[in-house]
Amino acid sequence: MRVSGKVVVVTGAARGIGRALADRFVREGAKAVVASDIDRDALAGTAETIGAVAIAADVSVESEMNHVIAAAEARFGAIDLFCSNAGISHPGGTEVANADFERVFDVNYRSHLYAARNLVPKMTARGNGYLLNTASAAGVLTQIGSLAYAVTKHAAVALAEWLSVTHGHQGLRVSVLCPQGVRTRLLLGEHGDRDNFLTPGAIEPSDVADAVIEGLYDERFLILPHPEVAEYMRRKTSDYDRWLRGMRRLQARVRDNPKTAIKSGAPAG
Ligand SMILES: NC(=O)c1ccc[n+]([C@@H]2O[C@H](COP(=O)([O-])OP(=O)(O)OC[C@H]3O[C@@H](n4cnc5c(N)ncnc54)[C@H](O)[C@@H]3O)[C@@H](O)[C@H]2O)c1
Repeated sequence: MRVSGKVVVVTGAARGIGRALADRFVREGAKAVVASDIDRDALAGTAETIGAVAIAADVSVESEMNHVIAAAEARFGAIDLFCSNAGISHPGGTEVANADFERVFDVNYRSHLYAARNLVPKMTARGNGYLLNTASAAGVLTQIGSLAYAVTKHAAVALAEWLSVTHGHQGLRVSVLCPQGVRTRLLLGEHGDRDNFLTPGAIEPSDVADAVIEGLYDERFLILPHPEVAEYMRRKTSDYDRWLRGMRRLQARVRDNPKTAIKSGAPAG
C-alpha cells in the first residue's frame, strides 16, 4: 500500500512512534490523517504541528474507540489504514496487581480487538482495508522485567496473525510492527533520561516510520525496524531451550546491572 491519497487513523499519536507515523503519513500525501490519543493537550499540539486532525480518546474503552472510527468516517469516508499504536508498560512479574495487569491488557491488546471488531466487517465487505498494529519485539521474544508487557504484546501479535489468516482472502491486509528499543517516553521516561539495557541500541521514532512506509509498500506482515530481531526469532524457534538459557543469562545481567547493553537474543521496549 502507498499511503498517498488514503484515509489514515493513528492511535497513541500525541508523541513517540505514533506521532512519527502520523507525521510521515501527512508528508506522504495521505488524503487525511486522524491522530488520536488519550492526552488531549499533547495531541492538540501535535496535530496542529504536523497537520493532522485530532480526535481525543481512550482507545482501551470500546465506545471511545468506536467514536474515533465513526468521527473519522463521518468526516473523511472509509478508513483505508488504521494504525492501532497506543501502548503502555508496567514493570514487574506475578506480583503485579490484577487491576494494573488488566490496564496493560486493555491498552496493548483489547484496543486492537475493538478496532478490528469495528473495522474488519466493513473492510472485508468492500474487499479492501489495512490494519497496522503496533506490538513489539517483546511480542515475538519476551520482555525482561515486565510480565504484563511480554504477555500483552504476544496477545497483540496473536490477534494480528489470526486476523490475517482468517480474513486475508477477503482483502484485509494486516501488518504487525515489532520494534526493539525506540527513543520515546515509554523507553526513556517522562524526562528522557532513563537509561536501561535497551537504550544503547535504541533507534529514533522516525527510523520506525521509515520501516513502516517500506513494510506497508511491500504489504509485509512482520515489520521489524531492528532487522536483528528476525535472527533472534530464528534462534528462538530453532532451539527453544538454548534460547531460554541465553535469555536467563541476559535477565541475570540486567538484574545485576540494568544498563547492560543487549548482545543477543533480546526483547523490546
Ligand atoms: N519505545 C519503544 O522502545 C517501543 C518498542 C516496541 C514497541 N513499542 C510500542 O510502540 C507503541 C508506541 O509507544 P511509544 O514508544 O511511542 O510510547 P509513548 O509513551 O511515547 O507514546 C504512547 C502514546 O500512547 C498514548 N496512550 C497511552 N494509553 C492510551 C490510551 N488508553 N488511549 C489512547 N492513547 C493512549 C500516550 O498518551 C502516548 O502519547 C506502543 O504500543 C509501545 O508498546 C515501543
